[in-house]
Amino acid sequence: MHLTAGRLDRINPSLTIAVSAKARALAAAGRDIISLSAGEPDFDTPRNVKDAAIRAIEAGETKYTDVAGTMALRKAVAQKFKRDHGIDYAPEEIMVSTGGKQVIFNALLATIDPGDEAIIPAPCWVSYPDIVALAEGKPVIVPTEQNNGFKLRPEALEAAITAKTKWFILNNPCNPTGAAYSAEELRGICDVLLKHPDVWIFTDDIYEKLAYDGFKPATIVEVEPRLKNRTITMNGCSKAYAMTGWRIGFAGAPVTLIKAMDKLQSQSTSNTSSISQAAAVEALTGDQASIEVMRQAYAKRRDMVVEMLNAAPGITCHKPEGAFYVFPAIHGCIGKISTGGKTITNDEDFVTALLEETGVAVVHGTAFLYPGHFRVSYAAADEVLRDACTRIQGFCKGLK
Ligand SMILES: Cc1ncc(COP(=O)(O)O)c(C=O)c1O
Repeated sequence: MHLTAGRLDRINPSLTIAVSAKARALAAAGRDIISLSAGEPDFDTPRNVKDAAIRAIEAGETKYTDVAGTMALRKAVAQKFKRDHGIDYAPEEIMVSTGGKQVIFNALLATIDPGDEAIIPAPCWVSYPDIVALAEGKPVIVPTEQNNGFKLRPEALEAAITAKTKWFILNNPCNPTGAAYSAEELRGICDVLLKHPDVWIFTDDIYEKLAYDGFKPATIVEVEPRLKNRTITMNGCSKAYAMTGWRIGFAGAPVTLIKAMDKLQSQSTSNTSSISQAAAVEALTGDQASIEVMRQAYAKRRDMVVEMLNAAPGITCHKPEGAFYVFPAIHGCIGKISTGGKTITNDEDFVTALLEETGVAVVHGTAFLYPGHFRVSYAAADEVLRDACTRIQGFCKGLK
């Protein structure tokens, strides 16, 4: 008897997780591997956050909470949205889930009917199209261009909207490109969205604290309050506070959507961990100094990585505004043969040969629906990054 359901055939296993697993397997076999494939801060969770979790355990905050999160955390999230972007959300317009990923899962599963379309600018984080497909929707991928900083042009959004468009999904700053949108840049996007009142907007702002050179990523509702009644503003603790394992994601949205998400979550995970929620209250409302320390470290790393990659023959690396990724183009490497004898016909050949011949693991652009590139996560120590970039330079110099 066939075990798996048809719906499973619509999705792919995460390719980024697959690359990380391959790198770990090679390292376990004794190879000298540097993995720049994971989207995870290399920093430890800040001390004040850990202490808040320990206090919560000692105080017996170890029971189920409301599905949508404790009132203390929902208030802290509301305060965060007000403080950072001047947006007013009441606690009943806030929902806390098991990571940002579950927020996306809840919102899309709760709203997409078969055939509904979701517009996703590419390159994109792999989970959006797969979750849309799982919900029996149709991902509509709209490519951006490196010469426009990988940012979506309003006219491209306009051209992609149809009578079936249910969602427009924006990731700002973006994984995998690091591209971020200022208030001015979002204005044109908002103007298009104002003309299409049936389109809902999902903004994934999970990397917003990681922006450099004074750049301030804006968010849709802050730029256009008239879109608030059909926008979900998602954020979380994973990236900004180095809390990936704690599984805290949250969102502000109209009550109708929050209620639908709450209903779905009540039949899946219920609340996220009570202890993580207590820690998240401290992360959001306590001392914010650790964010700045991490941000400055990432800023230095970004500059070094971009400079070193641009010095590798055949590679062009755009310097992005945010997140902890760069997304270099490899057009100058295509058609060449590596020192190990591998012909580089596409981005997958490039990353496979790079891993096998130099031990550096990165993710090919095709995994983000954008061939001809690869993603480097620079959430790693400076000396590790320098070593990896030197190896990439050596690999590219060896291509004939
Ligand atoms: C763009 C983007 N959104 C959401 C997430 C999910 O984060 P979380 O670990 O909070 O589920 C990630 C994690 O890699 C991400 O890159």
